[in-house]
Amino acid sequence: MNIGVKSTLGDIVTAYPGTVKVMNKYKIDYCCGGKDVLEDVLADLPGDSDAVVNELESTTQEQDNQVVVDWSQQSPSQIVDYILDNHHTFMKETLEELNMLMFRILKVHYKSDGESLLKIHKLFGTLKTELEEHLVKEEENLFPLIVEYEATKSDVTKQAILKFIADTEDEHDAAGDLFRALEEATDDFTAPEYACYSYKRTFELLDALEKDTFNHIHMENSILFPMI
Ligand SMILES: [Fe+2]
Ligand SMILES: [Fe+2]
Repeated sequence: MNIGVKSTLGDIVTAYPGTVKVMNKYKIDYCCGGKDVLEDVLADLPGDSDAVVNELESTTQEQDNQVVVDWSQQSPSQIVDYILDNHHTFMKETLEELNMLMFRILKVHYKSDGESLLKIHKLFGTLKTELEEHLVKEEENLFPLIVEYEATKSDVTKQAILKFIADTEDEHDAAGDLFRALEEATDDFTAPEYACYSYKRTFELLDALEKDTFNHIHMENSILFPMI
């Protein structure tokens, strides 16, 4: 038994990254809800919570044979570099490709699927604007302050960071809500049977962006920010 039901979701995912696929399956919000205790979350889930714990457990057993990065041994600046090189780069590239695809499928499928595609297009537009502004704020403000604090341990810098973190976590919540709305508008990113390549690719990329963003937010909220 590896999973403690009194543990927070953030701590579970940090120790056992493989649990993410089970959390995603049951729509357990481990990123914005990283401070929530598993036991409380399970109590609110419909269905058999023992089955969920068993599935979480089996992913931890799979992981026992794999090497997992121990983030607590990394410095904040190393984690910042990892986030920039992986999550920020992926987000920028994916938003750009999605932006092009979203406009294309809206035009091509407008006559048959206009109502649903207009909704998805608008949600994506809001998400893209908010995520781009969020990335810039982190890259230009928050992350340089975190790197500076690691070197100086200045209390003034720390206070500035703590203020930024509060705003940043609010923006993470807002992004999480937009992804949930997109899940609903796209039937969990399931493209219609008749969908063309671009239509399918759009939904696949939205799904991939959601899952990567959840992990990205988890790294910031539950690993990086508590180091300050
Ligand atoms: Fe970020
Ligand atoms: Fe962020």
